[in-house]
Parts: sequence; structure tokens; C-alpha cells
Amino acid sequence: MAFESRGATTLTGLYRHPIVQAPMAGGPSCPALAAAVSEAGGLGSLAAGYKTPAAMYEEIKQLRARTAAPFGVNLFMPQPPATDPAAVEVYAEQLAGEAAWYGTPLGDTDRPCDDAYDAKLAILLDDPVPLVSFTFGCPAPAVVEALAGVGTVTVVTVTSVAEARAAHAAGADALCVQGTEAGGHQGTHHDDPHLDGTGAGVGLLTLLAEIGEAVDLPMIAAGGLMRGAQIAAVLAAGAVAAQLGTAFVPCPESGAHDLHKRALTDPEPVFTGTELTRAFSGRPARGLVNRFLREHGPYAPAAYPQVHYLTSGLRKAAAAAGDPQGMNLWAGQGHRLSRELPAARLVEVLAAELAAARGADRPPARGEGYGTAGHATAGQGGEQNRTTRGSES
Ligand SMILES: Cc1cc2nc3c(=O)[nH]c(=O)nc-3n(C[C@H](O)[C@H](O)[C@H](O)COP(=O)(O)O)c2cc1C
Repeated sequence: MAFESRGATTLTGLYRHPIVQAPMAGGPSCPALAAAVSEAGGLGSLAAGYKTPAAMYEEIKQLRARTAAPFGVNLFMPQPPATDPAAVEVYAEQLAGEAAWYGTPLGDTDRPCDDAYDAKLAILLDDPVPLVSFTFGCPAPAVVEALAGVGTVTVVTVTSVAEARAAHAAGADALCVQGTEAGGHQGTHHDDPHLDGTGAGVGLLTLLAEIGEAVDLPMIAAGGLMRGAQIAAVLAAGAVAAQLGTAFVPCPESGAHDLHKRALTDPEPVFTGTELTRAFSGRPARGLVNRFLREHGPYAPAAYPQVHYLTSGLRKAAAAAGDPQGMNLWAGQGHRLSRELPAARLVEVLAAELAAARGADRPPARGEGYGTAGHATAGQGGEQNRTTRGSES
């Protein structure tokens, strides 16, 4: 069975507003969130990462029951086996105090590294979805070709020119260009701590310019985007759409833990900054700086998904105990701009801000100085922000 628009799909034909709700593994991007975004004219996404193939398929069916609008499904690429098992053992010893504190054992690290990629792919080929995106690597050309054959648009997450070239060579339809500002994991194809240290990422605007000049593929821009004016900026920088994760975490439809939502929207925030860290999963990911990140980030090894498995029980125990200091609170650099709005309303507000920002790009007409009408436009945008925040947050 194929989705209705099979054969006629391009990336830009999948949405009315160039706003992609990021796939967010671990709960946030549930069918209710993705459906609300797609119904509102954005592009909703499901995250297959960490899920069994059956659970991924169940979410796809739930999403289809809520909307006939297009959506995407995100897959994690298989990872190589741990290169340094001893480093994982050392980290386990360093986490012994956490296990004692939360009263839960550390997880078994001897588990698969492929995130059931082949089985998930088989489902997506058998019952195609409008878009499939890939993170943590580049799919083989045969995979991209097979998905194209069933009418699915393919997107590869990239964080460098070299990764963008690899995605182009594999035949991908589009790139998700992820700047270092982004919340959650960096989608780097190989986590090499010597090359891609947790502080070495490139900012989104620089990356869009670099990749835009090197590779001829549509770009979806991701990282730190929270307002329509920022979306206008990345469109001006060559992107065709913007992918927002953190902005959608606080939505009532999002499946994120309440403590995660509260950490983003608290008017008197406990957590004020973000950092890239391997502390929770063994791969660089940006989260709010809490006790766990501060204490264990400096020595956590590059060992994904072994460290993810190791800390899984600790994170669950911290959440169950209502302790955000032990949870992975993924968030982008724009997190203080979070708004607690229903997802459809957020898409609407972002689209209105985008339109206002693009309108403000016009050169002033005769007699319309920047000090007069130009300011009036900017002022209206600001007023709109204040109104929506005041009335709905
Ligand atoms: C809670 C959370 C989980 C995420 N999980 C995934 C994922 O499963 N797959 C993926 O490709 N990206 C994931 N990301 C990264 C997003 O795709 C996107 O790059 C990022 O959210 C953009 O930055 P922003 O959060 O500042 O908007 C996640 C981001 C967050 C905040």
C-alpha cells in the first residue's frame, strides 16, 4: 500500500508552511504532535530511534488515523561496534555513585547497535510514507533508490560539507543541515572525538553557506530556530524549510516529560545554559546543563549507543523521582524563547512571524522611511509575540 500522493512527491510539495517539526526520539514527537503540525500545514515527523519496528509501525498507523496530511519518519543509521569497550567499563565505574543514589543498576551495554534498521526499512518499503530522514550516517544508494521507487522523499542529516557530499553521492533528495545550535544529538556521520569534539561544531548560517555552495540539493535548516524571523533568515541563506525541535517540546501534544517541558518554559529557569555532551548517550548531544551533564560530561567516552544503554535506567529513575538534575533535557541554544502553545497555533504564529519578517524585507517605498512604516511592521511583529505569549503561555 502506498500513500495517496505517490509519484508526485517532492520535499516542498509536502507542506504549506516551510516548517518541519523535528523527529524527536525518546517521546516528544508522538503521533498527536506530528498530526497537529501536519494538519496545520507544517510537516510533522515521527522518530523511529530506540523504538522496535512494531512500535514504529504502530505510531505510523496512529498518525494516519489522525490525519491524511503528509509526514516524515526518521531512522537512526546502524553504528559500528564499540571501538573501546574498556572506556565504557571505566565510565560504568564512574557512574556507580549514580546507580547507588537512584537505587537502580546500570544498563547492559551488550546490546545491538543497529537500532533494527533493516526491519524498520522493510516496513517503510512495504507500506511507504511520504518522507524518510536518516540520522547518524548516510544510507546506501540502493536504499535511497528503493525508497524513491515507492515514492518516498529521502533526507539525510548532515553537519559538514563532507557529509553533505556523501548524501548527494548516495542520491538523497534533500539535506537536513544541522548547526551546532541544535538541541538533541548532532547527526554527525561518524563520532570521532578527535575530529568532532563536543565544542567543535559549526553554526547554522555558516554551514548553510558552505554546503549551499558545495552541494546542489535542497536544504532544511535546523538548530536554534524559535521565531519566524529566524526562519526567514535561514530561507534567505538558501534553505527551503526550517526544522524546529526545541520549539515543539513544550506543546501540550508533545510526549516530552513534564519536567522537560517545565525546564524550558519556567519563567524563573533553574537551567539557563546548554552544552554538547556525551554524558547520557556517548554521542554529542545538546542539553540543558544540569548536575549529571556537569559532573559526567567532562570524561564521558565516545561510545554510542553503549553509553545510552548504560544510563537508560538512571534517566528513567531520575524522571520517576521528579529529579530533572539526572535527566537528559535536550534543548537547543534558543531554548529561552520557548512558548507553551498548542502545536497548530505554534505553526500558525511561526508562519505569521515569517510572513511579517519577509514583508519587512521589502525596500521602503517612497516616503516610507525605516523610522516610520518599517518600525511599524517590526512593532506589530513584537506586539504579536507579546500577545500570544501573554494569552496562551
Ligand atoms: C528532544 C529532542 C530529540 C531529538 N531527537 C532526534 C531524532 O530522533 N532524530 C533526529 O534526526 N534528530 C533529533 N533531534 C534533533 C532535531 O532533529 C533538530 O536537529 C534540532 O531539534 C534542531 O534544533 P532546535 O532543537 O534548537 O530546534 C532531537 C532534538 C530534540 C530537542
